[in-house]
Amino acid sequence: MIKKIGVLTSGGDAPGMNATVRSIVYTALNNNIEVLGIKNGFLGLYNDTMIPLYQESVTSLINKGGTFLGSCRFSKFKLKEVQKKAKNNILNRKIDALIVIGGDGSYIGAQCLTDIGIPCIGIPSTIDNDVPGTDYTIGYFTALETIVGSIDKLRDTTSSHQRISIIEIMGRYCGDLTLLASIAGGCEFIIIPEMIYKKELLLLEIQKSIKKGTKHAIIAITEHICDVHKLAKYIQQNTNQETRATVLGHIQRGGIPVVYDRILASRMGIYAVQLLVKGHQGKCIGIINNKIIHNDINYALQHMTKSCKKNWLHMIKNLTN
Ligand code: F6P
Repeated sequence: MIKKIGVLTSGGDAPGMNATVRSIVYTALNNNIEVLGIKNGFLGLYNDTMIPLYQESVTSLINKGGTFLGSCRFSKFKLKEVQKKAKNNILNRKIDALIVIGGDGSYIGAQCLTDIGIPCIGIPSTIDNDVPGTDYTIGYFTALETIVGSIDKLRDTTSSHQRISIIEIMGRYCGDLTLLASIAGGCEFIIIPEMIYKKELLLLEIQKSIKKGTKHAIIAITEHICDVHKLAKYIQQNTNQETRATVLGHIQRGGIPVVYDRILASRMGIYAVQLLVKGHQGKCIGIINNKIIHNDINYALQHMTKSCKKNWLHMIKNLTN
């Protein structure tokens, strides 16, 4: 029987992580399960930095961005001796199971711990929406709002100056953030990792569009595809139209979680505790067609792909210049 669980947030923080912890704590306490919050992700397991969580610790957290537990990328967790020390700390604290909130890197840590006898459940939370086994990750919709708001502002100045603007959007190697933000922001050109990118082809499209009368345009592009400042120079030189690049950066990760993320966090948190109570381990939670479901973490790890999961690509053809 589960008497005490640990919870940690790991990898890039995402709006809604706090709401997830809140939901876990409420549900656990209602099932007479104690909760320890582990500070700074897997590093906190290694360093044994943990704090007891009560209802008062989390009650006001539903609308707070970031993660009050702290997060980090702790690559040394792949080392067996590091995992062993973490396991000893977990056993010394009499923790029966762990809930890990984060993206694919966090799932790897959760699976390693499950393999060495510490039952773990993973909850997908990253702005990138790049975790298999779920339609949406906690944090994605808040980041979309932030990005669309920025595109709207960028359009004010882009249109005033009759310029071309390039906006670089996060997502690592997944185009979900770029694609939906730029559809909602009405971007004229969209470049995502799931498509072949050639600057010469983009230039041709821009030139065609200028010929048709386009006076200003926004190009949305996922990070890691090219140097956007160099791309801006290239477009300016070849179109004679002033071009600027904006890298949106970590602003995309912050902010008050939107309603959808709060609800998703609350639903997934409840479900994770219920899975542990029923004796499950090595599972990750997802939402598919608005139904909360679970898969093996190993399933998610085996289906990690660099490409966008959704069948949204057809929108690009219809809604861009
Ligand atoms: O995974 C979330 C994310 O914001 C990605 O979109 C981005 O590539 C990465 O994290 C940035 O990581 P860091 O904050 O460690 O620079």
